[in-house]
Amino acid sequence: LKITWDITAAQKGGYPHFMLKEIYEQPDALRNTITPRIVNSLPDFTEDGIDDDVLRNLENITVVACGTAMHAGIVGKAMIEKELRIPVNVEIASEFRYKEPLINEKTLVIVTSQSGETIDTLEALRLAKRCGSKVLSIVNVKGSTIARESDYVLYTHAGPEIAVASTKAYSVQMAAMYLIGCRIGYVKGIYSEDRAREFIRQLLDVIPVIEETLKQADEVKTVANYIKMAPDAFFIGRGLDYTLSLEGALKLKEISYVHAEAYAAGELKHGTIALITDNVPVIALATQESVYGKMISNIREVKARGAYVILVSMDEEYNDGDVCDKHISIPKQDGLFTVFSAAVILQLIAYYTSDAKGLDVDKPRNLAKSVTVE
Ligand code: G6P
Repeated sequence: LKITWDITAAQKGGYPHFMLKEIYEQPDALRNTITPRIVNSLPDFTEDGIDDDVLRNLENITVVACGTAMHAGIVGKAMIEKELRIPVNVEIASEFRYKEPLINEKTLVIVTSQSGETIDTLEALRLAKRCGSKVLSIVNVKGSTIARESDYVLYTHAGPEIAVASTKAYSVQMAAMYLIGCRIGYVKGIYSEDRAREFIRQLLDVIPVIEETLKQADEVKTVANYIKMAPDAFFIGRGLDYTLSLEGALKLKEISYVHAEAYAAGELKHGTIALITDNVPVIALATQESVYGKMISNIREVKARGAYVILVSMDEEYNDGDVCDKHISIPKQDGLFTVFSAAVILQLIAYYTSDAKGLDVDKPRNLAKSVTVE
């Protein structure tokens, strides 16, 4: 008897690709990252050895990272500035490392990296330390160089990420930013104990919400069959939705080779709308209540120019043909937390588009999982 054993297929656990497996692992990755840091319903980094004084005394924050990790930082910036009114600067590590950065001992530098080995991010960390800033890193790989050289580490517990396109690592990096933001708010007295508890309750709620969102996979597949025919696609949103659309566009470019751009919806009229013609896919995120009406007007503008609009929102139904061609609904949540479920939809859009084109989803051309040389 000869048994053929495909080790890679076994590792994929029944999924056709690592990327899809990793998308579906997000509820566990989030649970494993968030729950060990909750004590008495409040965020708590005692086990991580993170000094509360560093969080209490910081005056501003700079996030340094590359790629998807940098995009998680942009979401974190939007959240922290909105909630805590503390300035957050997000820097691309390859730019930051050759600048004279505007940081000092009052700046907390948050270095974000899945692998913990990205050379530009590592050099940015070393520069930040030379400038006298404390460095807190958000890292997935235990004992990696970035983790070892940081003053403090908040490990994400996403488990190994094999697909080149990052998915679950992004979600847990955002969750880490949210936990850090909440703890800063609490120790600085910006958040009352009740507010911090409510924040944590909503963050934990993200886990079942993502489980629910994953049930939309078949809906997303139909959208991907449309996008696969397009040379270009646009992602639009406002506020937190805009910060998330940056990652949606990156994901689509990386694995489906569809040129994609993320645009702040209100900025469309300053350039990008010239590119909107018949059948151009526009993925519109509308989960932010305070700008919902504005967002719908922007969507009508692209629709009127012939765009094929895929609307991602919390509305249960959307039958208004003036607004969208396809509606993908995510469960209702406070707008501060919708980035997590909407991210899943954007990841699935990229995944199914790449797969529909018959591409090598897990190993896109020219890209590496970890970039350790310049
Ligand atoms: C590469 C990967 C990206 C990743 C980036 C930063 O470009 O393909 O998925 O976001 O590096 O990697 P890091 O390990 O530092 O998060």
